[in-house]
Amino acid sequence: MKAAVYDRYGPPDVVSIRDVPTPEPGPKDILVAVHATTVNTADWRFRAAAFPGIMAVPGRLMAGVFGPRQKILGGEFAGRVAAVGSDVQRFRPGDAVFGFSGQRAHAEFVAVRADGPVAIKPPSLSFAGAAAVPFGASAALGFLRDFAKIAAGERVLVIGASGGVGVYAVQLARHFGAEVDGVCGTDNVELVCSLGATRVFDHQREDFRAGGESWDVILDPVGRTTFAASRTALRPGGRHVFLEFGLTEIVQALTTSVSGDRRVVIGVSGDTREDLDLIAGLLETGAVRPVIDGLYPLERIVEAHARVESRHKRGSVVVTVVEGP
Ligand SMILES: NC(=O)c1ccc[n+]([C@@H]2O[C@H](COP(=O)([O-])OP(=O)(O)OC[C@H]3O[C@@H](n4cnc5c(N)ncnc54)[C@H](OP(=O)(O)O)[C@@H]3O)[C@@H](O)[C@H]2O)c1
Repeated sequence: MKAAVYDRYGPPDVVSIRDVPTPEPGPKDILVAVHATTVNTADWRFRAAAFPGIMAVPGRLMAGVFGPRQKILGGEFAGRVAAVGSDVQRFRPGDAVFGFSGQRAHAEFVAVRADGPVAIKPPSLSFAGAAAVPFGASAALGFLRDFAKIAAGERVLVIGASGGVGVYAVQLARHFGAEVDGVCGTDNVELVCSLGATRVFDHQREDFRAGGESWDVILDPVGRTTFAASRTALRPGGRHVFLEFGLTEIVQALTTSVSGDRRVVIGVSGDTREDLDLIAGLLETGAVRPVIDGLYPLERIVEAHARVESRHKRGSVVVTVVEGP
């Protein structure tokens, strides 16, 4: 089968398309013919060994000290079940599915555990639309619900609201009954409003702190704010939540958890089957919709990597492996 492979860390063009053996599904696995996948920020970080702050050492240990241990990236996918292992009851060949693969989805086929974070694709979504959602929506869900402990009626500000996590954070915060504002660049203000934001700050023209407004939750997936500078924009009991964080935020999270009425919250989200099922339900009802920055055929995956590294993508950069809806 064809796959996008990299042997060393580096710029986008360390990735090339090669023929590799098709994976053999084990008894508890399904083999999925990948129709669409994405290059997301995790793929960029693994490809470039660009782990933020103090994650540099654990990141390298996890990915491979001198070069990548897993040479095929791709953590989310949508496709059709091509074969099922002997123990699998949950899926049948031909089922349209989407979900998480850890890595290895930048290929024509990927084998994943049938009891893992995989779900039937909502029929109303294209494969590209379904592949665009799991990473960003699951991170947004975990950070809003479990780390920020968002409550209905709260006011939430999403930094990087047009990004891979941000577009789902805006929609999910609305779903949880919050009033949502966002921060993004000029070209994306309209998009973020269309996702349900009440007020959108254009970071190229204005500072969200300047008007004396305040929020219960500031969710920063892109590491563009600091607690020190944004503290006055947090209401009493407010939480400043970081997905990208360094030593400063770790220390602040520890100290503000024991004293002070405004907290720094950090965490690492997991990809669970329960959350994917919840997200699939929200996609079905239309409470959440995919946002796609662009479609790149597998052969052009190097361009997809470069686009992600810009940190200005809108939602997800989708890689199409099979043409069609
Ligand atoms: N801790 C965890 O468990 C966890 C889980 C998932 C993800 N993450 C991390 O979360 C991060 C978020 O990923 P992502 O996919 O959302 O990133 P992304 O798509 O690259 O984010 C781009 C967003 O950042 C905005 N932006 C750029 N410059 C800005 C500025 N100066 N001020 C405010 N916004 C600015 C962009 O807006 P414009 O383009 O409109 O300027 C766009 O909305 C990644 O680093 C990922 O590693 C962590």
